[in-house]
Amino acid sequence: MTKQEKYQSLLPQTQAVMDENVDLIANMANMAAMLHETFGFWWTGFYRVIGNVLVLGPFQGPLACTRIAYGRGVCGTAWKERRTVVVPDVEQFPGHIACSAASRSEIVVPVVRDGEVIAVLDIDSVHLDTFDHTDAEFLNRMVEML
Ligand code: SME
Repeated sequence: MTKQEKYQSLLPQTQAVMDENVDLIANMANMAAMLHETFGFWWTGFYRVIGNVLVLGPFQGPLACTRIAYGRGVCGTAWKERRTVVVPDVEQFPGHIACSAASRSEIVVPVVRDGEVIAVLDIDSVHLDTFDHTDAEFLNRMVEML
């Protein structure tokens, strides 16, 4: 299956699994699990905006930094600029926060509620140049289901 086909089959599955009767953390946990298992990424998870920092939320993969300041790293940049950030080579991204030395490329998608960024979805790959506009488009559709 192509990446696009994988996302297309994942969308209805995700919609079916998202549960409006539980809190955001439970749905984030299942979404991270489904993405991680489908694509075999290195790290897949959420950071939640709590006060003036991003705090580690549900994730799959190796342990990660617990707090990220506004505007710092790829996650803090996506939060500050309220946009999806695709990083083909983390070594070329000034201020990239290396939670894991194995991570080579990354995508961060803001989760927006009522015009405010409430969290970010962060995905890391051990390969260079893993993410593109297809990931950006589908991941934005995924986080809208939270
Ligand atoms: N690399 C991220 C930090 C989070 S970890 O990748 C899980 C960043 O620069 O914001």
